[in-house]
Amino acid sequence: MTAQQAIRLEMKQISIEFPGVKALDNVDFATETGSSHALIGANGAGKSTLMKVLSGAYSHYTGEIYIDGQLVHIRSPKDAKDLGIQIVYQEVDTALIPYLTVGENIMLDDTVNDMGKKQLMNWKRIHINAKATLERMNVKVPTKKLVSELTLAEKQMVLIARAITKKCRFLILDEPTAPLSHSETEELFRIVRDLKQDNVGVIFISHRLPELFEICDEITVMRDGRFVIKQRIADTSQNEVVEHMLGKKMGDQFPKIPIEIGGANFEVKGLSDRGKLRNINFNVRKGEIIGLAGLVGAGKTELCKALFGASRLETGELVLQQRKLSIRNCNEAVKLGIALVPEERRKEGILVQESVASNLSVASLSKFCVSRTFLQFGKEKKEARRLIQELGIKTPNELAKVKNLSGGNQQKVAIGKWLTTDAEVYIFDEPTKGVDVGAKKDIFKLISQLAQQGKSVIYASCELSEIIGITDRVYVLYDGQIVKELSTSATNEEELLFYSTGGK
Ligand SMILES: Nc1ncnc2c1ncn2[C@@H]1O[C@H](COP(=O)(O)OP(=O)(O)OP(=O)(O)O)[C@@H](O)[C@H]1O
Ligand SMILES: [Mg+2]
Repeated sequence: MTAQQAIRLEMKQISIEFPGVKALDNVDFATETGSSHALIGANGAGKSTLMKVLSGAYSHYTGEIYIDGQLVHIRSPKDAKDLGIQIVYQEVDTALIPYLTVGENIMLDDTVNDMGKKQLMNWKRIHINAKATLERMNVKVPTKKLVSELTLAEKQMVLIARAITKKCRFLILDEPTAPLSHSETEELFRIVRDLKQDNVGVIFISHRLPELFEICDEITVMRDGRFVIKQRIADTSQNEVVEHMLGKKMGDQFPKIPIEIGGANFEVKGLSDRGKLRNINFNVRKGEIIGLAGLVGAGKTELCKALFGASRLETGELVLQQRKLSIRNCNEAVKLGIALVPEERRKEGILVQESVASNLSVASLSKFCVSRTFLQFGKEKKEARRLIQELGIKTPNELAKVKNLSGGNQQKVAIGKWLTTDAEVYIFDEPTKGVDVGAKKDIFKLISQLAQQGKSVIYASCELSEIIGITDRVYVLYDGQIVKELSTSATNEEELLFYSTGGK
């Protein structure tokens, strides 16, 4: 067989159950090497689970897998790796060892194997091999740097490098672009195209449809644990795919409720932190949604955290309802009526080992307590059930652990927990990351409802279409400074991009 001959992969009638959930129900999936295949579906549709079956993370599924027409047995990660199936998981952070170097992380399997056989590690060989792979990908990260010092994008590249240092016929990328900027995404696409040239089959999960249409040859749509349709990208459209995904037409993505904007509410004066931010001034009125636009790295997350008391300010004043706030930590921020839905939800937004109900009540515990001491479980559960309904959180019940929810549903929990608090100022930092198009619409609706109740909303995002879609006013951040203020109705994505990239 020549190297370029396509090898076919087929998954037939795959089913799997978890307590209370039939996650996959007779799913068929097929793709081949030398092509890229998109896998799409709403949050909780079963995409990650299907790919975990393929990469050997679960042994208790039913159904058959064929490679090149041969029935294969995949019941452990080793089985999958031996067959050349590699995966980069959705949760980038947990997949790397932070206090090992880039090189050690890339060569992790070899490192472990080496240790089994010999007493001395060949560190030189580890770094030489890791460097060769990074060079092949044209990625410039020093192999001796600690992983803990990398950006999310660099971590993503390290994970891909780890996957392709070994035999790799099929590479699964589960939402690889969620943390990446536009230019980093382009870089990733270049790598995907090179891998296709090398006759690797890439399976690509993403909620960003334009991306899938740019990089993929075929698309498989799933809904509620079932296979819906497989099409060639050239033969379908983004609208058609969304319809297959949701089982209905979507309609207007930004359900804007007309809101009367009130008086001054929250004001930031001359804020600088010890690192990134310099002399930030802005204000939000009652019932107003303001956007913080800017590229990845512009300082949006730093600003959101600074407003929430999560970092030390050098100078600056926060004023809420004409009262000067003194916020020394997040706890004080919550008490004073400031809520933050953080960007890195698994690390900062939720308690993954706890139940959905505990997560939803944790930001407003006193509401569920008698005499500030005894938690009323009944009340907590009832409120949790209401939020699960309102946000469409896919979970067997309110007592399920958050770690068992799909990525997008974890994000909904991170948002839901603030809806039980009576905050005055709501800060959202990239809230739609990893959220499907239907759920995004629900989130936009909730944000509009907050504004309708007279709350002040700060919406930070690098998705300019979202900024244009839901905000009233926009501040553009560039290199830690606000460089422009614009009225949303009088601007467009091009103008925002112009100022976001340092245009004057
Ligand atoms: N280990 C587990 N225990 C219990 N339930 C699980 C487990 N893994 C997945 N599930 C459930 O299976 C369903 C499918 O989840 P999966 O993570 O595959 O969704 P997904 O399509 O990847 O969604 P997302 O776009 O949000 O990442 C969900 O309802 C989820 O809660
Ligand atoms: Mg997933």
